[in-house]
Amino acid sequence: MSQRIQIFDTTLRDGEQVPGCQLSTEEKIMIARELEALGVDVIEAGFPISSPGDFLSVVEISKAVKIPTVCGLTRAKKDDIDVAAEALNHAAKGRIHTGIGSSDIHIKHKFKSTREQVLEQGVWAVKYAKEKGYEVEFYAEDAGRADLVFLAQLTEAVIAAGADVVNIPDTTGYCLPDLYGKRIQYLFDHVSNIHKAVISVHCHNDLGLATANTIAGLTHGARQAEVTMNGIGERAGNTSLEEVAMIIQVHKDLGLHTNIKSERIYELSQLVSSTMRMPVQANKAIVGRNAFAHSSGIHQDGFLKHAENYEIMNPADVGVPSSSIVLTARSGRAALKHRVELLGYHVEGDELNTLYENFLLVADEKKMVHDADLVTLVTNLEILQK
Ligand code: KIV
Ligand code: ZN
Repeated sequence: MSQRIQIFDTTLRDGEQVPGCQLSTEEKIMIARELEALGVDVIEAGFPISSPGDFLSVVEISKAVKIPTVCGLTRAKKDDIDVAAEALNHAAKGRIHTGIGSSDIHIKHKFKSTREQVLEQGVWAVKYAKEKGYEVEFYAEDAGRADLVFLAQLTEAVIAAGADVVNIPDTTGYCLPDLYGKRIQYLFDHVSNIHKAVISVHCHNDLGLATANTIAGLTHGARQAEVTMNGIGERAGNTSLEEVAMIIQVHKDLGLHTNIKSERIYELSQLVSSTMRMPVQANKAIVGRNAFAHSSGIHQDGFLKHAENYEIMNPADVGVPSSSIVLTARSGRAALKHRVELLGYHVEGDELNTLYENFLLVADEKKMVHDADLVTLVTNLEILQK
């Protein structure tokens, strides 16, 4: 039977940590409502103790959405947890996301502490957060580089303390997919109470592996994926929501499904890009300008014969109105004929050959040939034929 994957969106927390991408509370509410319509299960709305603005955003998002769980981030500290609990007061379903560094690097150089003390503080934080009456998710920061035996002990202890979800973040984007998948598998094999909690994957993209690592985590038993729209986030970003959702949708063989209404993806991607002033790279998977654009002659010809020759999903599945045939000097006659026909002209035989020769001259000069250029080319051809 297909397994349901919870989508935990952190666009408004980890995503918003990108320099220059800060949003107003109104913009965050607008995005949160769209995330709800998209079908995410959890919205991480902010880090309430970090600033009055973040506190207010968590309060207002808690009021604005009804279906997804609203989550607030904390450190494993009393004040953080108190403030997050207060911010979540209006949430239909609230979650406190608390945690602490789990790698020896963090333990020694960030906390100047010991594994024993970190474990004790993590357990204390989970118990304290649980007393507030919300769901509790524990994050073992930098789990991608943590000692595995210690990570298993920590996971077992926080689950025993009442954690509903345990997040195993690859905070620095260090892991390889195989390694990350094996880490998750190790936890399933060595944590006796693991089935009492949901295991969550939260990957960063420093080596371009965030999505691959997330999928590896899911195929080894994790049931929640932490993602951002367009993959925005600290440094090289987080795992992108649209990639995980579409991998799961396209690869039915994984035996997984989400609640994401994929046809809403493109519109939300555009909204996040414009409100955060963060352009989407042209070749970004799923939502980039070129994701469904065909420009070389061989591909265009194959695509026009049968879209599946060069497309593994339908653009409408992600809300992109249509595929496009981009005319460049690498395009062939089939693509030129197709685009000219869309403009209402019918050209073939010698006429098409002449048009194509003239088209190549323009394409070499202008790089991309637009509708207005095509109209001029066809008109000139008609004048010549008279
Ligand atoms: O990357 C990370 O470890 C985080 C935690 C705070 C969850 O964002
Ligand atoms: Zn993160």
